[in-house]
Amino acid sequence: MTTSPKIEQLRAKRAESQRGGGEARTQRQHDKGKKTARERLDILLDPGSFHEVDAFVHHHSSKFGLERNRPLSDSVVTGWGTIDGRLVYVYSQDFTVIGGSLSEAHAAKIIKIMDMAVKVGAPVIGLNDSGGARIQEGVESLGGYADIFLRNTQASGVIPQISVIMGPCAGGAVYSPALTDFIIMVKDSSYMFITGPDVVKQVLNEDVTFEDLGGASVHSSISGVCHFVADDETQSLTMVRELLSYLPQNNMEDPPPLATTDDPLRTESALDAIVPENPNQPYDIKRVIELIVDDGHFFEVHEGFAANIVCGYARLGGTAVGIVANQPMVLAGVLDIKASEKAARFVRTCDAFNVPLITFVDVPGYLPGADQEHNGIIMSGAKLLYAYCEATVPKLTVTTRKAYGGAYCVMNSKHIRADLYIAWPTAEIAVMGPEGAVEIIYRRELKEAAEADARKQELADEYRATFANPYIAASRGFIDDIIEPRNTRARLINALQVFQNKRDENPPKKHGNIPL
Ligand code: HXC
Repeated sequence: MTTSPKIEQLRAKRAESQRGGGEARTQRQHDKGKKTARERLDILLDPGSFHEVDAFVHHHSSKFGLERNRPLSDSVVTGWGTIDGRLVYVYSQDFTVIGGSLSEAHAAKIIKIMDMAVKVGAPVIGLNDSGGARIQEGVESLGGYADIFLRNTQASGVIPQISVIMGPCAGGAVYSPALTDFIIMVKDSSYMFITGPDVVKQVLNEDVTFEDLGGASVHSSISGVCHFVADDETQSLTMVRELLSYLPQNNMEDPPPLATTDDPLRTESALDAIVPENPNQPYDIKRVIELIVDDGHFFEVHEGFAANIVCGYARLGGTAVGIVANQPMVLAGVLDIKASEKAARFVRTCDAFNVPLITFVDVPGYLPGADQEHNGIIMSGAKLLYAYCEATVPKLTVTTRKAYGGAYCVMNSKHIRADLYIAWPTAEIAVMGPEGAVEIIYRRELKEAAEADARKQELADEYRATFANPYIAASRGFIDDIIEPRNTRARLINALQVFQNKRDENPPKKHGNIPL
């Protein structure tokens, strides 16, 4: 049977739109170790699930020679598909077409799928690889960015939004990813900055490379802008798939459960001895987490940033949970500016998307010092407090050792609506550590004592014997139960079932005023 000319024309046009910037530019992309926009979508989505939208859109600019270069699809591929059978909306910027730069038409394509995603309540995933605003277009392009920023903000807390940075992301373009829930960067081939190395040189006379200014290692360890770093593009897309498995489609749903063969009643005797006798000796809280969660699998967020607090996703009895844990291995698990902000952001993300929170506490307090004070630890610490106070998802706490001072209140205490607060027998809950406490309350006596060090030790031991245990807090009802560590998994899974339908809310308001 012969194909009609109209169908031939359609096929030809579709093939043209799929060609992107052509062979040479595709080759250049491959030579840089990068994949094309469509190859990336093939890896991200379930096979055969992609449905493209706006393949026949082109830009309408006629300045600076652009009238001779109007590729179909312009510089972004958009549409929907599925991940593990669940609907997602996607856009994938095509660097082979005019450097992936954002034209008015490019922005309109992104906006269209974002609006669809919000309407049906499905996540949006953006694969970013762009030279930024289309320089030939000017303000139309800037307007396009602003239209996207507005939608990122309106969709925030309604549908999950994930940004993968797979090439340049510069200037105001960084603000769309920054407004989304998660940023994933690819090692050695992605960078994000407000102004590039050339401008830095002009304005500050400083020499800095792309990588040192805004590469994946900088944003995953120093700035905290990016939540995950992937070794290559394929891994970054696999990370998106896993991340989505812990999140619901939208804020009206719960994350999907996943059947597990890991016994919910499994006891773990190794936990009974994991906290060292010496209170100043560290242990790895990630080991504790792995021993408790389903199949020992923990998906860590912000792994290289503020490692004194650990945040990430796991499952307990098949239920997705968000875990926040002080890490005694790093800075003794102290709360500082970066740790507070990292955890505050994570708590709010979990609360927005109905992911129950599990908090493991072993915290000696807030980090003292002029540096922290001058940089605003008061406001940063308050962010974490605010985030926990405001959260209405099921909130469970396990105190393994220290819960000192303000950090006791902040780390999901009963007073700020923990649904279940359990402690191990090794827990110590007090206003401050014994050594610090006796120096203050016995300052005069110690000044006059003949053998001050010995006396100080004696008083510290006495303070520890009095306060360094969970029983005083339990006698007030501030702790719901003291358990043998080996039973932690079973207790948490039981509590998740008990509190899964909990109802709690905050007073009606336009919005709160989190100390930003
Ligand atoms: C139009 C662009 C472009 C842009 C790249 N191209 N960026 N065209 N507008 N913003 C084109 C190039 O002319 C080139 O076309 C092709 O894309 C590939 O670019 P190359 O420079 O050959 O690639 P590479 O060497 O890999 O360098 C990539 C790059 C560089 C570092 C991104 O292209 C670059 O510096 N671009 C400009 C970045 C920038 O300043 N953007 C504006 C940022 S401000 P040909 O035809 O030769 O292949 C901004 C404001 C947003 O975005 C504000 C929002 C509020």
